[in-house]
Amino acid sequence: MSELLTTHPYNNDLRVALLQLNRPKVLNALTTDLLQEIVDELRRLDDLPEVRCIILTGNDKAFAAGADILKMSQSNPIEQLTDKRMRLWKEFAMISKPIIAAVNGFALGGGHELAMACDFVIAGDSAKFGQPEINIGTTPGAGGTQRLTRALGKSKAMMLALTGEMLSAMDAYECNLIARVVPAKTLLQECFEVAKKIADKSPIAVKLTKDSINKSQELSLSDGLEYERRNFYLSFASADQKEGMSAFLEKRAPEYKGN
Ligand code: CAA
Repeated sequence: MSELLTTHPYNNDLRVALLQLNRPKVLNALTTDLLQEIVDELRRLDDLPEVRCIILTGNDKAFAAGADILKMSQSNPIEQLTDKRMRLWKEFAMISKPIIAAVNGFALGGGHELAMACDFVIAGDSAKFGQPEINIGTTPGAGGTQRLTRALGKSKAMMLALTGEMLSAMDAYECNLIARVVPAKTLLQECFEVAKKIADKSPIAVKLTKDSINKSQELSLSDGLEYERRNFYLSFASADQKEGMSAFLEKRAPEYKGN
């Protein structure tokens, strides 16, 4: 059976696709095969013109509780080095459409790294976030020291990763790790409402905005500002920019075609 369920469309809206991790017995522990399935599916959705936004979720108990510890316990450094996992994380980062992580329950270790690799996180109020690798004698290996530190600053990231403690959804929200906290029961509906707002925008402008914000994590401020300016100029090559500004001036809703 597939380890990933895809619902496309979500709520009869062709523009929003829902991907659900489907290994409930092991709290959606991430094997390389599951990561491969996620990336394959994201690439397929990235190529479908009607899809404007993607929601990645787990179940009520877990978004994902980390890399699969059973599989990892049998592995050695050379297997890790030659495993396609690191390439898959890079391919995940190359998806151009927005990906919202809809998190209920545990997002731990590689599961938390997966949530952080999405564009933003919306969580149910009982969600828990952490990097517990330290509890099993290892260290984060897919962004849990790098993305976490950029999000929280050194002090909080250090404390979380060194103690293996979990953050509640509200704590994660208050320290800017996640974008919004909602009642756990309405998580998907709330994510769908946000995804619909994104789907209503110009896909070109969405793609350029995602690209510019992601670059802010890599570049100096002056290089980032330059990069942003070029994406801004580029948006003026799109019919959507003309449509957006005309619609504003004509006091009507824009109709974006993604060109
Ligand atoms: N890998 C494999 N199996 C896992 C798992 C994981 N990461 N997390 C949970 N499971 C399995 C459990 O072994 C258990 O299986 P059985 O029913 O066969 O015993 C099942 O899922 C349910 O889990 P629990 O009984 O432990 O559930 P709980 O509610 O008591 O506890 C939990 C939940 C606190 C999340 C606990 O399961 C836990 O601590 N899990 C491990 C979390 C972790 O350490 N993640 C980091 C992994 S390392 C990593 O991620 C590195 C990287 O990417 C680079």
